[in-house]
Amino acid sequence: MSGIALAVIGGTGLYKLAALRDVETLQPTTRFGAPSGPIRLGTLDGHRVAFLARHGEGHSLPPHKINYRANLAALQSLGAQRVLALNTVGGIGERFGPCVLACPDQLIDYTWGRVSTICEDEGSEVLHVDFGEPYTRALRQDVIAAAAKAGVDLVAEGCYGATQGPRLETRAEIARMRRDGCDLVGMTGMPEAGLARELGLDYACLAIVANWAAGAGPDPDEVITLQDVLDNVAVASAGLPALLAAL
Ligand code: HPA
Repeated sequence: MSGIALAVIGGTGLYKLAALRDVETLQPTTRFGAPSGPIRLGTLDGHRVAFLARHGEGHSLPPHKINYRANLAALQSLGAQRVLALNTVGGIGERFGPCVLACPDQLIDYTWGRVSTICEDEGSEVLHVDFGEPYTRALRQDVIAAAAKAGVDLVAEGCYGATQGPRLETRAEIARMRRDGCDLVGMTGMPEAGLARELGLDYACLAIVANWAAGAGPDPDEVITLQDVLDNVAVASAGLPALLAAL
């Protein structure tokens, strides 16, 4: 099958694309196992778009249990070449407060113990893919142009720090990440981006800031609740349908 203009992987609080029309539900299996859930294939503004909820549609998978390889391979098997990852994140840098959308251009991987390569099986080819620029430049530029066309505010850069979770970070961890140069913190950006590169997919991240990361906001004692995260994702996602249609 071919002709999928875009595959979208939804994160926390983003379990479906309401704007998709004529939706077909697919349950592909891959050489890496089953993806997080069904793939919804439909049309958006006349283009075929595939959507997959990263944590499962009922948010049953924590970040370290997601089969990132199967998710990407399943989208690829349907003919997708361009993957837009929607990632719910905490904001560290001052331009990255709650409800901001950002398209990061760099990342730092703090995750551990995850299957992070397709070169796992005995006899598989050993890949050392270039990852200096972890997101596909052309796709990032398309995302940035689509946001401008749709009139959606977007910070067109930033460094994403991928943590292990599922717990949130300590203030000291966030202070260290700030010193490292991270603007955003999330739990699912890796190994997804690295695997996409190994699989030869075009991949970009649209980060949705749900909260100030621990100690990063004006109230250093603020407690982050899941309800705040979901509420802010809902607010920040208002411009997504228009942005995706433009993309
Ligand atoms: N840290 C890590 N992941 C997140 C956060 C956070 O503060 N908010 C949403 N996802």
